[in-house]
Amino acid sequence: MALSLDTIVSLAKRRGFIFQSSEIYGGLNGCWDYGPLGVELLRNIKESWWREMTYRDDIEGLDASILMHPRVWEASGHVQSFSDPMIDNKTSKVRHRADHLIEGEIEKLRKKGRTDRADELQAKLDAAGDPAALFQLILDNEIKDPVSGTSDWTEVRQFNLMFKTHIGPLEETASVVYLRPETAQGIFVNFNNVLQSSRQKIPFGIGQIGKSFRNEINTKNFLFRTREFEQMEMQFFVKPGEDEKWYEYWREQRWNWFRDLGMTMEKLRMKPHAKLAHYAKAAVDIEYEFPFGWGELEGIHNRSDFDLSRHTEYSGKKLEYYEEATKERFVPYVIETAVGASRSTMAFLTDAYREEEVNGETRTVLRFHPKLAPYKLAVLPLINRDGMPEFATKLYHDVQRKFKTFYDTSGAVGRRYRRQDEAGTPFCTTIDGQTLEDGTVTVRDRDSMEQIRIPADGIMGYIQEKIGG
Ligand code: GAP
Repeated sequence: MALSLDTIVSLAKRRGFIFQSSEIYGGLNGCWDYGPLGVELLRNIKESWWREMTYRDDIEGLDASILMHPRVWEASGHVQSFSDPMIDNKTSKVRHRADHLIEGEIEKLRKKGRTDRADELQAKLDAAGDPAALFQLILDNEIKDPVSGTSDWTEVRQFNLMFKTHIGPLEETASVVYLRPETAQGIFVNFNNVLQSSRQKIPFGIGQIGKSFRNEINTKNFLFRTREFEQMEMQFFVKPGEDEKWYEYWREQRWNWFRDLGMTMEKLRMKPHAKLAHYAKAAVDIEYEFPFGWGELEGIHNRSDFDLSRHTEYSGKKLEYYEEATKERFVPYVIETAVGASRSTMAFLTDAYREEEVNGETRTVLRFHPKLAPYKLAVLPLINRDGMPEFATKLYHDVQRKFKTFYDTSGAVGRRYRRQDEAGTPFCTTIDGQTLEDGTVTVRDRDSMEQIRIPADGIMGYIQEKIGG
């Protein structure tokens, strides 16, 4: 049976992965909180990315501030064009993204088998360059509001997605600042600082993980499109002419990251952009097949010299590179890898979910890669006497110093295993009578459910080997 998003949302709440923000006040749309298990999963994803991307010779790390000089967003083009075309229905008062409404209509035509009409409308949508053209398409195709069923539309207007606030006590135009809608610009404006302080030579990159904010109109599909989210971005600065080679390189590296963390490969695909952004020379998305359909997880872009040139123009400070060997001075091209940490959390959570028949019963299991699993080990003492609890708590505290570990004494061992399966804990260890005789414990593997006996003092090495690295 196909996995529904509701199943994931309800497991995420029940087991403490994800909660609705401000739930006791009715929640806040497009914002989510990470519970005890969720925060571990998120941190493990970010840690894996950080190690992979910045623990190498040619990439430096950065943590830029969320609030930046407002001119940054003029230079980047966000003030002028980081907006969505919106349309309101006057009867239902519901606001929609105009292009999404048209896409919905195309979907309906396809379902009815009217492929020619669907292709024709898709071509018109691709060609529609401004709000007026989108509005005309909605009128021509008599597209109705899914809520009220009417065509009682306002015109299509552009709606900027940046959150605005004010710096200092005065709410006036001169004090306007924005919550950053992407982490990338913090990297571009620090190009000279990082280059000079790290003494890197081109090609080199700068990586950053941090919160971004977008006033998305339609927040939907759980963590997929939210107003506050985390990004993991890396900008790789290269010599013009070498950009295509590095674009290929980063496409492959980023694909392999998902593969190596155990993502189901049939649920991943590379999708080149049909329309390129104004700054891009080439762009591809790594998409994942979520329960609601295919959606972007990561973008890999060849941004040419657009960003550094624009910041040079707007700040008056040269952002360029001097190559000793050739005595050439140039504005580097940028290959960008941009992935959502929050969106990846949703993808890894969804991808790990399984319902399996075991001895006539259904077990729910999260088959996370051990590197990503919130808890690495659960310690389960079997008998509450003869020094076994003492042995178990000592083992628990020893392992906990290195790996997040859970201690559980309540209920039959079968039930304790099931609870850990549902939390995605890859290993459970039991302490039994034999432990006191020969110092060995059992280790049960979450996926195969097989058990082996190993010396208790070998458990750290065992987990380390399974996690890898
Ligand atoms: N600097 C380029 C950039 O920000 P993007 O495609 O707009 O590119 C990169 O964003 C990634 O950030 C996306 O692939 C997605 O994983 C994540 N992302 C973007 N908007 C998001 C949102 N509203 N909610 C959750 N994740 C989002």
